[in-house]
Amino acid sequence: MQGVDPAWLPDEAFRPIGTRRTLIRGSGPLVDTVHGEVAQACARFGGSVSRDGSPGPYDLVLELTGAESGDGGEAFTVERGDGRTTVTASGGSGLLYGLFHVVRLGETAFQDSYGPEEHRPESALRMLDHWDNVAVHPVMGQVERGYAGGSLFWADGRARGELLGRVRAYGRLLAACGINAVAVNNVNVHATEAHLLTDRIGEVAAIAGALRPYGIRTHLSVTFAAPMVLGGLPTADPLDEAVRGWWAEATARVYEAIPDFGGYVVKADSEGRPGPFAYGRSHADGANMLAAALTASDSGSAAGYGGTVHWRAFVYNHRQDWRDRTTDRARAAYDHFVPLDGQFAANAVLQVKHGPMDFQVREPVSPLIGAMPRTRLAVELQATQEYTGQQRHVCWLGPMWSEVLRFRPEEGSSVGELARGGLVAVSNIGDDPFWTGHPLAQANLYTFGRLAWQPDADPGGILDEWIRLSFGPGDTRLHAIMDGSWRTYEKYTAPLGVGWMVQPGHHYGPSLDGYEYSPWGTYHFADRDGVGVDRSCATGTGYAGQYPKPWAELYESPETCPDELLLFFHHVSYGHMLRSGKTVIQHIYDTHFEGVEEVEEARRVWAELEGLVDPARHARVTERFEEQLRTAREWRDQVNSYFFRKSGVADAHGRRIY
Ligand code: GCU
Repeated sequence: MQGVDPAWLPDEAFRPIGTRRTLIRGSGPLVDTVHGEVAQACARFGGSVSRDGSPGPYDLVLELTGAESGDGGEAFTVERGDGRTTVTASGGSGLLYGLFHVVRLGETAFQDSYGPEEHRPESALRMLDHWDNVAVHPVMGQVERGYAGGSLFWADGRARGELLGRVRAYGRLLAACGINAVAVNNVNVHATEAHLLTDRIGEVAAIAGALRPYGIRTHLSVTFAAPMVLGGLPTADPLDEAVRGWWAEATARVYEAIPDFGGYVVKADSEGRPGPFAYGRSHADGANMLAAALTASDSGSAAGYGGTVHWRAFVYNHRQDWRDRTTDRARAAYDHFVPLDGQFAANAVLQVKHGPMDFQVREPVSPLIGAMPRTRLAVELQATQEYTGQQRHVCWLGPMWSEVLRFRPEEGSSVGELARGGLVAVSNIGDDPFWTGHPLAQANLYTFGRLAWQPDADPGGILDEWIRLSFGPGDTRLHAIMDGSWRTYEKYTAPLGVGWMVQPGHHYGPSLDGYEYSPWGTYHFADRDGVGVDRSCATGTGYAGQYPKPWAELYESPETCPDELLLFFHHVSYGHMLRSGKTVIQHIYDTHFEGVEEVEEARRVWAELEGLVDPARHARVTERFEEQLRTAREWRDQVNSYFFRKSGVADAHGRRIY
């Protein structure tokens, strides 16, 4: 697209296909998309594409082996023999994913003989949640926690009809990394956005129409109070017949407009949003009411509409008194939801943030994951860098997500396997020409898609794949800049898993006590002797006991707790010796100096790439590095000064602390 960064699909990536002879067999809308892609590549690079019976020879055959099926059929097989590469799939989406697989392989797709290799997604739902508002919210702006401009979908309070081409291009990028679902609006559903469910559903249908050719289903965030705010009913009680009837009718109209509608996303009884607690009902009652509406169908088909409700587990008391040491926000999701295990309908998915707090740079894995064996869980990650540098800092989250997805709550299953309801990320996209504000933040979106497809994939391999596609082959320097960037960010911000210490409200930059006396449940309890939150069973909030063995035991004691989570689980003295052999206070000083040095080094390496990468990208990243370095220094100096002043302990190396 003109004026928009090609991200991981530059024209050049299609050269190996575009210079060859391709045969496409099969029919259906997604096969048409595949054909369109190949035809465009051939027009550019001189190859040829035929459909069905035309005589060969061919270098590439893309073949649908069955009738194109709705949302199934995502798997594909690829092999090469007799000088020909063949991709087969039983569904149109499988063929599309197979095509993008060949794009990723580049020339190697057409070398030697290999296969057959079967590729299928580990998880059936790989979703992005947009926190987009239709109207510009007075505090949050248009995209809540958005760092890449305005919404791709709405401008000036209306759907961006003129930009549907860009939405289609977005769908194309998403399909090329394996994403198959998008929720288009903010989970905090404000007054204007509530209407997307009813009188403004046409706008959602238009977005769905632009994404559908790339196998992406559209979902909608709805307010639990919709029967009241839209339907004029006196209640939203999920067991009230009139309320249930209202949802059934509203949902029927949604399916008239969008026959392949994916379902609802709901944030209820969370940070002030309405929910079933007001009526003395459980969250299972609330979710199941919507699940029933999304199942029903006049069409008589056994599967009904086939919609899913994604019910978020982000439920906690955000009006806490900081003096109250008995309430622990980290405990909340587990305490609320574990008693409901087994009560959720089959098409209700409980969507759980990966950590117990809120997307901090380091948190343990939420103990809810693994604790509800009779409930379909989806795990929610945050691609938008709310607490990880807001797309002004390079912070590639692949290693963090990979650690989360490979974590095994109990022997047997990893988080990736336990996420039977899918993997979700809060999107980092806006109408910025680079899509993500910081061009290197595109890697987070790409990595999320690829990890959602295969949660145990090597993140370093995914990074290299992204670099090769986006920047072309060759240089290893970009890998060096990005690979360790999450750990670098962790070093210069809040230490040892304690989290927060950010400016309240917008969450950018340091404020050591910013959340210390607030109602949000986000404390670090630093005093002259020590820092950290005692979440042990023996003397603390008991949070550590929400884990099964061996984790409960490991986290319970400061002697066995991993260093990087020590202050999340324990309040320790500044002189406490870490497993690394350093004291807590010296670790704080050292990591903060190192973190800034690592940013300086990354900035230096990036400067060397001038002339080797696209100038517009280079300029944008250069500008962001200046800001990253400025803020990293601010973090270093504020954190070090704060702990020096609290503890009175000098830096062993005598460096400058203010
Ligand atoms: C965070 C974020 C909010 C968001 C919330 C959520 O707290 O700061 O903007 O609404 O998460 O996930 O619902």
